Amino acid sequence: MSKRRFFKRIRQALRCAVQGYRYGGNSTVRISYPAYGEILAGKRILVTGGSSGIGLAIGKKFVECGADVVITGRNSDKLQAAVNEIGKDHCFPMTWDISRTAEIGKKLDECESLLGGEISALVNNAGVAPSKFWGNVDEEEWDRIYSTNLKGMFFLTQTLAKRWKGQISPDEYRKIVNISSQGGFVGATYPYRMVKWDVRGLTEGLGKTLVKDRIIVNGIAPGVVKTSMQQFSLQQGENFYTDQNPIERVILPEEIAELALFLLSDAGNAIVGQTIVCDGGYTLK
Ligand SMILES: NC(=O)c1ccc[n+]([C@@H]2O[C@H](COP(=O)([O-])OP(=O)(O)OC[C@H]3O[C@@H](n4cnc5c(N)ncnc54)[C@H](OP(=O)(O)O)[C@@H]3O)[C@@H](O)[C@H]2O)c1
Repeated sequence: MSKRRFFKRIRQALRCAVQGYRYGGNSTVRISYPAYGEILAGKRILVTGGSSGIGLAIGKKFVECGADVVITGRNSDKLQAAVNEIGKDHCFPMTWDISRTAEIGKKLDECESLLGGEISALVNNAGVAPSKFWGNVDEEEWDRIYSTNLKGMFFLTQTLAKRWKGQISPDEYRKIVNISSQGGFVGATYPYRMVKWDVRGLTEGLGKTLVKDRIIVNGIAPGVVKTSMQQFSLQQGENFYTDQNPIERVILPEEIAELALFLLSDAGNAIVGQTIVCDGGYTLK
């Protein structure tokens, strides 16, 4: 081993030791990504909240697999940075605060024009994190959470499903994936978790209702994912440790993107109205 390599190893080991001491563990993440090729070729997909975290990973995965994608968010600089990361040939930014439901029709038109045709699938991902909990919840927090994490999603979905009705050919499905949370599977005492129960219920209800129109609706319930919503996980850098689930590591946004890909592709056509939990075992009884 060269001297340079030896010292690099020492530095890495020291960094791991410091991180382990500071954050209480140091996990290695072992995952693999099935090679799906261009499984989404020809799909035109709208991902709300695609400028960071889970939405960004989903947008990136979809483009890799052949789709054209519009990502949304409130901050145009963040959106542009995400487009630069994903690649501007197949990913298009659309600045839009999802809670502004009056803009839905206009924004769907804009999205279709960016994608060059009708939308084939929607991922309802945009969301904000809780800042107040039981005992301290006020109406401002209630409205902030409900307007983005539920109202925006509901009216967008309703408008798009109405547009789709009668337009879908018998050899095609259109798809919707709603991002819920592990919080939608355990008792809820504050708006963020209550909303995630609503999202799960909506997914089941729409799954049943829309399938006859050839629209398949499913959901994903992530556990603790390494995004800005879990600031501690970003501060920990390469240390993936958490004591918040049985696998003792945070989940990566890319792992959620894999599930979204499966559900949106024809591989998932027999799954209807389900919310798939990806939480490292947190919700197990
Ligand atoms: N991270 C977790 O542990 C976790 C666990 C369970 C579920 N989830 C859910 O996963 C989804 C994505 O969260 P994340 O963890 O990836 O967080 P994130 O990195 O903060 O991403 C949130 C995304 O939503 C966008 N957004 C927020 N408010 C919006 C609004 N009013 N209109 C349009 N876009 C908006 C953000 O962009 P702008 O800020 O620019 O608007 C950003 O692109 C959320 O629904 C969240 O509840 C996350």
